[in-house]
Amino acid sequence: MNRKILVTGGTGYIGSHTVVELQGAGYEVVIIDNLSNSNADVLDGITKISGIKPLFYEMDCTDKNALESLFKEHSFDGIIHFAASKAVGESVHKPLLYYRNNIVSLINLLELMPEHKVKGIVFSSSCTVYGEPDKNPIDENAPIKPAASPYGNTKQINEEIIQDFVHSGAPIKSIILRYFNPIGAHPSGEIGELPIGVPQNLVPFITQTGIGIREQLSVFGDDYNTPDGSCIRDFINVVDLAKAHVIAIERMLEDKSDEKVEIFNLGTGKGASVLELINIFEKVSGESLNYKIVNRREGDIEQIWAQPDKANKVLGWTARESLEDTMLSAWNWQKRLREKGIM
Ligand code: UD1
Repeated sequence: MNRKILVTGGTGYIGSHTVVELQGAGYEVVIIDNLSNSNADVLDGITKISGIKPLFYEMDCTDKNALESLFKEHSFDGIIHFAASKAVGESVHKPLLYYRNNIVSLINLLELMPEHKVKGIVFSSSCTVYGEPDKNPIDENAPIKPAASPYGNTKQINEEIIQDFVHSGAPIKSIILRYFNPIGAHPSGEIGELPIGVPQNLVPFITQTGIGIREQLSVFGDDYNTPDGSCIRDFINVVDLAKAHVIAIERMLEDKSDEKVEIFNLGTGKGASVLELINIFEKVSGESLNYKIVNRREGDIEQIWAQPDKANKVLGWTARESLEDTMLSAWNWQKRLREKGIM
């Protein structure tokens, strides 16, 4: 019998790409999502790619009663927990929304796991837990600095909750994945990033400007201490990222490690600046992008990129796609949304 995985936030950006990879690897997937930042149409995209329609429940992870009935109905082998609010700026204005949503959701899942014999949980964390690095590339042992936003704080707190619970003797395992900056879309053009409202993140803003939905991209600062003055990030292809989740879930379910909690950076190991990314977009799309340099954005980190050696060696996972192909996939997805009349 196929192993059954619960994917929370499975209609979201990284979640949907991960569902496709899980299905491709033979897992049976059940998605729950409250659709607060995604659309149920994503299920059609997933089905077109994999040929399998995943079971979907519109459900909020903060609703423990709903989760409990789901756990009674299905016997899950593992959980991949994506469901969370993720806008840094919004979290500053609505901190309690972020603490309730992100922290209560995780606690509910953890509380239900032992009773329902769910063996492991993969948790979506972020490089935001490192704050401004003392040096790059940054590895998993770097000190965790005070979070710059309530959003970042929820990721730090959730990592601690998992550590404390597992080390209290709970009969579960966990793999914590610290993502750097996921970008791009599935090469089929069937799924991709679809932010509701004005995009907060760089790449959807670039592609929406390229296609004329937004008039101009604001580049937040060119006076940083970097070669071209703009911020540097480790932009990682979303399909590459999704594949790491399949490896992580298998590692937990097959007890390939003696460690009960493991942490991995998921990045390419290379930094690229905001202006470099814009150049790559212009090259692969053939569009000239209307952008202007504006003031720095509050809370931005100057530069951060991953030391991905641990994931490379221990998981046998490496980011493969080039920035060019990744930006082209993001652009193709944006054009596809236009064809479909969605945007
Ligand atoms: C942030 C979070 C990260 C989170 C991610 C998801 C921090 C430090 N990072 O990433 O943890 O997972 O959001 O939402 O909290 N930029 C522009 N113009 C724009 C948009 C962005 O110049 O219109 C620049 C930013 O200043 C930044 C870079 O592009 O230098 C990347 O920004 P963004 O895509 O928002 O990601 P992060 O802030 O790195």
